[in-house]
Amino acid sequence: MSIVNAKEILVKATQEKYAVGAFNITNLIQLEAVVEVHIDKKAPLIIQTSVTPSKFLGREVLVAIYRTLAESAPIPICLHLDHCREVDYCKKCADAGWTNIMIDASREPFEENIRQTKEVVEYCHRIGNISVEGELGTVSGVEDQIKVVEDEAALCDPQQALEFVERTGIDLLAPAIGTAHGVYKTKKPQVDFERFGKIAQLINDQGIRAPMVVHGGTGLPPDYVAKLIELGGSKFNVSTDLKRTLIDATYDYVSEHRDEYNPGKIDVVVKDAIKEKVIYWIDMLGSPGKA
Ligand code: 13P
Repeated sequence: MSIVNAKEILVKATQEKYAVGAFNITNLIQLEAVVEVHIDKKAPLIIQTSVTPSKFLGREVLVAIYRTLAESAPIPICLHLDHCREVDYCKKCADAGWTNIMIDASREPFEENIRQTKEVVEYCHRIGNISVEGELGTVSGVEDQIKVVEDEAALCDPQQALEFVERTGIDLLAPAIGTAHGVYKTKKPQVDFERFGKIAQLINDQGIRAPMVVHGGTGLPPDYVAKLIELGGSKFNVSTDLKRTLIDATYDYVSEHRDEYNPGKIDVVVKDAIKEKVIYWIDMLGSPGKA
């Protein structure tokens, strides 16, 4: 039985200074590719779904597939709902069987963010072994229904982060530190490492209260990733990389085999391409062998 919540996996990762990949999937091929690689590499896994794919695929269907794959897997696997802005939908997904829920009220004023986040935390903790991620500050870029232009992005204040964790009781904190959803326009994104380290220290130095999440994984240079792990980052969210791999691999295959009508062959090629991308990520995060 390897159905777990995210905090269970991430406390160990934070202590041992490696990170767990949290991969956004939009279809079954991606999901299977991600799971198979993690089993091969004996690595703990967080599968993520944004709100739109969760509605498109259907909550019950998604959870049934997750449970079927996770229950027979010899590694811990968490199913995470990413960037949900509606408290009620967070509760619906918790009821359906997601094991980690992210309530993203980061664009609300501080007190309202606390109110909504706390409501989701209390609900999830009451109904089961479900951990909750909250965000403070706003991460720029586009992720599903969340669109934040760079000028409106706000970095997370360390003292407020501590207050946020204490008053909401969240299990994981996603502080905005300058990383962005989507593709970085520069090779050297402006990431505020000092801020990230300070937040991690304030929250987790006297025992791990809320493992730290890094959003906007795609395009982060390997030395940034290593530094963020060293400073206390234990969950890295990766979405755009998998979407691009899926679309590019499909396009390349179909372009080269214009007269072939065999979806199974496309699936094999796409799955292999996604596996390669996931291997790149988990080797960089140091999670192989940690399950
Ligand atoms: P990327 O799309 O930049 O990988 O970001 C993913 C993410 O942070 C999802 O929450």
